[in-house]
Amino acid sequence: MKTIVITGASSGIGLETACTLTKKGFNVLGVARSEANCSRAEEKILSENPDANITFFLADLMQQREVHRVAEEINKYLNERCDGELYALINNAGCVRSWYMTTEEGYEQQFALNHLASFLLTYKLMPALIKAHGRVIMTGSESHKGIKVHWDNVKLFRRYNPLTAYKQSKLCNILFAKGLNDRYAAAGIRAYVVDPGLVNTDIGNKETGSLVNLIWSIRKRYGVSPEIPARTFAFLCEQEIPPEGLYYCLCKEKNYSRQVTSENADRLFELSERLCDIHYGRVQMI
Ligand SMILES: NC(=O)c1ccc[n+]([C@@H]2O[C@H](COP(=O)([O-])OP(=O)(O)OC[C@H]3O[C@@H](n4cnc5c(N)ncnc54)[C@H](OP(=O)(O)O)[C@@H]3O)[C@@H](O)[C@H]2O)c1
Repeated sequence: MKTIVITGASSGIGLETACTLTKKGFNVLGVARSEANCSRAEEKILSENPDANITFFLADLMQQREVHRVAEEINKYLNERCDGELYALINNAGCVRSWYMTTEEGYEQQFALNHLASFLLTYKLMPALIKAHGRVIMTGSESHKGIKVHWDNVKLFRRYNPLTAYKQSKLCNILFAKGLNDRYAAAGIRAYVVDPGLVNTDIGNKETGSLVNLIWSIRKRYGVSPEIPARTFAFLCEQEIPPEGLYYCLCKEKNYSRQVTSENADRLFELSERLCDIHYGRVQMI
């Protein structure tokens, strides 16, 4: 049975993707921060499919020490039960913020969770992904368009604008996927980004101020059900031959920002490696 890790699997898009993938026979390992939400999510998945293979791991992925810890737990599980193989990693956990908030390491929270946590977790799970010739899928957003990475102020400490920070973190998702393909295609790894569209979830109602809360409560009513993007994740996981594209919406390739170049991906890799104190390296074609 193929194993898939999904971060942020306790609600919204991640939860619905976990439901869909367990119904299709995948063994799903969900990662999220709240024990109560993980229990509720597990109940929902099992109520829809009593035979579902679902296991939850708890971690506050905003904090790097927590990413290291949960990655050790997942690797132990994979080594003991899955021959050390991970078929896919879906980096989906994400947040929005209304004002400047930092993690234990002092990083802006949207940048830390939406990008750095994915960057570090993927690095930690890479040996298992390589063993399975696996896939790495990020949950991106149309909002990555019309912005550049603020290389001289990536933490956006100066002139903080929460929307700019969110958009930049979503541009980082695609640059990271591009950089992974540049480095690991020779090892059989493929990376993708799913653009879910506007989805009716509570993302803008969690740890946000009253204005963002109100705006999101109105806006999300126009969003689709999380079942819609879940189909695109399933499409990317189910294809025997990995699809060639990078950015997908509604199971089809979609155009992305011209900022997504190998040069910018390399620059983001160097910066993120420094911020996470790791070094990815590059797999050479033989
Ligand atoms: N909704 C949209 O319209 C939309 C559009 C474009 C892109 N996206 C992207 O879709 C992804 C999922 O968002 P969603 O809309 O499904 O929102 P959501 O329902 O709030 O789901 C976010 C998930 O991430 C988890 N999470 C939040 N902070 C965490 C942390 N510090 N550590 C570990 N897990 C954490 C949440 O856990 P809890 O259950 O405990 O909150 C939840 O499982 C995000 O990357 C978002 O940027 C969403």
